[in-house]
Amino acid sequence: MGKALSKPRLMLRGTATPPGDKSISHRALILAALAVGRSRIEGLNQGADVAATAAALRAMGTRIEPGADGACTVDGVGVGGLLQPRERFDLGNSGTSARLLIGLVASHPIRAGFGGDASLSRRPMDRVAAPLRRIGARIDGDTLPLAVEGLAPAIPARHRLGIPSAQVKSALLLAALNTPGVTEIVEAATTRDHLERLLALFGAEIEVDGPRIALRGEAELQPQNLRIAGDASAAAFLAVAALIVPGSEVRIEGVGVNPGRTGLFDVLRAMGGDIAFSNPRERCGEPVADLVVRHSALAGIDVPPEIAPRMIDEYPILFVAAAFARGTTRTHGLAELRLKESDRIAAMAAGLAAAGVAAEESEDGLAVHGSGGDPLPGGAPVDARRDHRVAMAFAVAGLHARQEIGIADMAAADASYPGFLSALDGLRGA
Ligand code: S3P
Repeated sequence: MGKALSKPRLMLRGTATPPGDKSISHRALILAALAVGRSRIEGLNQGADVAATAAALRAMGTRIEPGADGACTVDGVGVGGLLQPRERFDLGNSGTSARLLIGLVASHPIRAGFGGDASLSRRPMDRVAAPLRRIGARIDGDTLPLAVEGLAPAIPARHRLGIPSAQVKSALLLAALNTPGVTEIVEAATTRDHLERLLALFGAEIEVDGPRIALRGEAELQPQNLRIAGDASAAAFLAVAALIVPGSEVRIEGVGVNPGRTGLFDVLRAMGGDIAFSNPRERCGEPVADLVVRHSALAGIDVPPEIAPRMIDEYPILFVAAAFARGTTRTHGLAELRLKESDRIAAMAAGLAAAGVAAEESEDGLAVHGSGGDPLPGGAPVDARRDHRVAMAFAVAGLHARQEIGIADMAAADASYPGFLSALDGLRGA
């Protein structure tokens, strides 16, 4: 008889390092492309979304080379120096690439076509197109595929944002970099400020005063050596996995804990989750910590809608945590969730139903009735609708289920977290 192959145990133990932050990676690449000289970026997110931004920047004359040590070098062309691309950009599934790059092109004297997959082609671009038309850009549609003809010099403006969106804010700030004078943006609610922090690091003249941001254009950006913080939105899946599987205790290292991104951890703590931030430090202007997470008995709560901008990408995994809580977790004020890579309220409601969890969908939220910590029934396949965060959320749910939760489109995770399943297996001793 040969030795039995060791099966991964159920509980999660040990240490994991999440991929580089996706939001920061897009922005670091773009600013490095606009600096004069060579930047070096360590810990860049290796997912398909950030790769789409890199490909578009290359098509506009930037050299981006992977280094032997996992870092990459970027030879910037200078603000205003982007070249006319030959072909339409293919931005795949990446809303951040589309919106940020539309803003970038809007104040350069070039014309670029923007395309993406079926999901991205359904997502609204009018939120960036409308304010960018005010600064002089010509944009021939409100959904992809569309073309942008930039205006240089563009017209400096004062923008008042109607929806809380870091992508819209960032698109306008990127357009402002090659616009003469001062561009002012007033946010509807505070959203992640990664670009503001990076702009200061690269030497731009930027002033932030509460919801008001002022940026002086025609900036000269200095190349930087950057180390990207770990992605809090990726760490969220590992953290919830540890919370729901009995006996678990994990350490997640080097996680970005920018207050604009940590809403989920606040909510999970309010539900009784044992999550500690240790070893606080900084990585290129961003706060970073190691997270220590232990299995916990969770209780359902009413999640205040004001926290949504601080955890907008974390609702799929919050709903999974809620599926294991005692009692009901109620959310509302989440209309934006219907406009993500999938309609995340509908996708999660359907997936939870398939997994045997009672949940009620409303126009702008979901109420989830939890199992009180018992394993989910499982047994039926879940359609993740090709949405990376929905796929990863149900992979976590399947760790504590009586019958398997099959996910056909698990490969969607590659958008933000290639190697996600191996990271989970690693924590389970496989
Ligand atoms: C992001 C902002 C958020 C988020 C997205 C990434 C960013 O989108 O959902 O995954 O990097 O700016 P919105 O700006 O639409 O809220």
